[in-house]
Amino acid sequence: MTEFSSIGSHFQAQTSYSRHRTPASPSWARPVEPYKEYADVLQWIELPAPASTGGGDLWEIIAARRSVREFSREPLELAQLSQLLWAVQGLTAPGGQLRACASAGALYPNETYVVLNRVTDCPSGLAHYDVRNHRLALLAEGDFSEDIGAACLGQASARQAAAVFAWAAVVERCAHRYGDRAYRYIYLDAGHLGAQLQLAAVALGLGSVNIGAFYDDEVASLLGLDGQREVPVYLTAVGRPG
Ligand SMILES: Cc1cc2nc3c(=O)[nH]c(=O)nc-3n(C[C@H](O)[C@H](O)[C@H](O)COP(=O)(O)O)c2cc1C
Repeated sequence: MTEFSSIGSHFQAQTSYSRHRTPASPSWARPVEPYKEYADVLQWIELPAPASTGGGDLWEIIAARRSVREFSREPLELAQLSQLLWAVQGLTAPGGQLRACASAGALYPNETYVVLNRVTDCPSGLAHYDVRNHRLALLAEGDFSEDIGAACLGQASARQAAAVFAWAAVVERCAHRYGDRAYRYIYLDAGHLGAQLQLAAVALGLGSVNIGAFYDDEVASLLGLDGQREVPVYLTAVGRPG
């Protein structure tokens, strides 16, 4: 049984709000850029414009959603990848910065990376989603399917998937306003991302599985992160069901 003196229960207590423990006035300043943009990239991968119509019946999609852990060798189409990226992090308010998924305080602490195992018209490698320009920055080229599978505790789904989405949080972007309670919001935000990605995948005839079990240090190293200021939080493996 979990001890109430455990770090988890301590975190829960220390970050709770109550009538006797009101939050400090939040700071509305935004000292940390809401977008991470890489200057030095191997290649920009331009994405087809996402579709804004079609996509099927929401109730049928919700009923059909199931975790898929075995994938075929068939690649993901670049247009499908574009649609999935838009469905989770795309800008959806013309001229504004609000995105497809909700985020506490509209701070969007989670950055989206994609391990490209098999995507048409796209080199294999590691990419970062440039939200503002709806394009991918290729950060590293090569076959990282074994590495991402191994970093996810050896889960075959991550190794087999055509693409693996990985979200990492720029902690200060949220902590500046909410202090340690930011960690709650970061994880809640990530849950929205994974859930919305799964529904979008079903709409495209794809399968997916969310992955919370991974070696934090290995995923951070694969994504090129320091693992402290920016921490890996959640992954989703996507592909054609095998
Ligand atoms: C936060 C979270 C973490 C998860 N981590 C994993 C994981 O590491 N590996 C895995 O195979 N499934 C993982 N899953 C998928 C669950 O096992 C799955 O959603 C659950 O068994 C219910 O099945 P369903 O998604 O098909 O409805 C995760 C799901 C969530 C929401």
